[in-house]
Amino acid sequence: MSTSESVRKHKEYLFPAVSMYYKEPIALAKGEGPYVWDDQGNKYLDCFGGVLTISVGHNNPKVTEAIVNQVKTLAHTSTLFANKPQSDLAEKLAGIAPGNLKKSFFTNSGTEANETAVAAAKTYTGRHDLVVLRHSYSGRSATTLAMAGQSSWKKVPNLVGGVHHAHAPYCYRCPFNLEYPQCGLKCAEDIEELILTATGGEIAAFFAETIIGAGGFIVPPPGYFEKAAAIARKYGGLFITDEVQAAWGRTGDHMFGISHWNVTPDILTSAKGMGNGAPIGLTIATPEVAAKYPGITFATFGGNPVSSAAALATIEYIENENLIKNCAVVGKHLGERLKQLKEKHPLVGDARGLGLMQALELVKDRKTKEPAPAAANAVLEETRKKGVLIGKGGVYGNVIRTGLMLNATKEHADQMVDALDAALTAAANM
Ligand SMILES: Cc1ncc(COP(=O)(O)O)c(C=O)c1O
Repeated sequence: MSTSESVRKHKEYLFPAVSMYYKEPIALAKGEGPYVWDDQGNKYLDCFGGVLTISVGHNNPKVTEAIVNQVKTLAHTSTLFANKPQSDLAEKLAGIAPGNLKKSFFTNSGTEANETAVAAAKTYTGRHDLVVLRHSYSGRSATTLAMAGQSSWKKVPNLVGGVHHAHAPYCYRCPFNLEYPQCGLKCAEDIEELILTATGGEIAAFFAETIIGAGGFIVPPPGYFEKAAAIARKYGGLFITDEVQAAWGRTGDHMFGISHWNVTPDILTSAKGMGNGAPIGLTIATPEVAAKYPGITFATFGGNPVSSAAALATIEYIENENLIKNCAVVGKHLGERLKQLKEKHPLVGDARGLGLMQALELVKDRKTKEPAPAAANAVLEETRKKGVLIGKGGVYGNVIRTGLMLNATKEHADQMVDALDAALTAAANM
């Protein structure tokens, strides 16, 4: 039984659906850099950052300073008034976003960012149908739940129609039992048949996470987005990429994950790591798409000066500290070490990821690839005992997800991998 009063009250007063990790859930009380402490005084290396959201360290001095200064100066305006942090942030984003993405709309969450993107695509094109991906997660509104590609997230009734789920570019479990590159990117090609058979032959958008996050860090193969976006555009649709998890340098080498492919989106969404924990959602679009957004729109907390100041400070920190490069370097080291775990532990069916977005998919049998969700739970519990917090995901609940902070060192990565190594041994013997 947990002795935490916060955990007890959480269970007593919150919706039961607000589930927590671990048999004995943890109440976090303090964070500093890559570490967090629970309310019992235990220290952990935080390798998940509240789901890839603490991007530049807990209580990062630069971000905290920006937040405190802004709170003391002006904490709220609504979108009815301009404010300097929002305007400066929008200008900054126009300078760094891919392609011709120049116009921003700010909200509080990834859900709202995606809701806005879909509404923009539908109005711009005058079309209704969406092609989305199986295994994906896009948020908890009616539209984004309809878009979810995971049954466990969409138990509530939802009425938004016109959403069509294409096969995921999930090479480890290829839906066509093919192998890259001989597959000819069948998963992307199949989008054409989906449009021709499941819609009226025209779509508003192809909407995809650049790396499927909650679905278990599924990285589409080279060439996938080029082909998928071309098909979407052939049938009148925009290409929307959801970088709620994959932006801000996390994938290494580029500020935005989609820049690993040779294609530019019409709309990009983000949230999470953008504000290092400050609530913010971003929908950034081309001027043409933004110009057609219908009527007038408003968001009470959209472009909130404090969240905007936090986001600006986070992005500047990423740039000034050269963290995109750091993600590539530490990510390469981590990827190699995770591949070694795969060689060593039969439980590990696949080790995959880009930069500091790396995962292990656990299976009971490498040939049948039967998922091993109980082992994933055991690995979570065992790593916790070693003072390391990680994440989980995947439709089958069998993927270990890691999201070290963008300023993580190789030593942090090693500490995490050593804990995973011991935990995998323990899980195999259970
Ligand atoms: C890829 C992706 N899109 C959208 C969302 C929804 O974001 P939020 O929880 O901020 O509404 C999430 C949240 O996990 C996500 O991972």
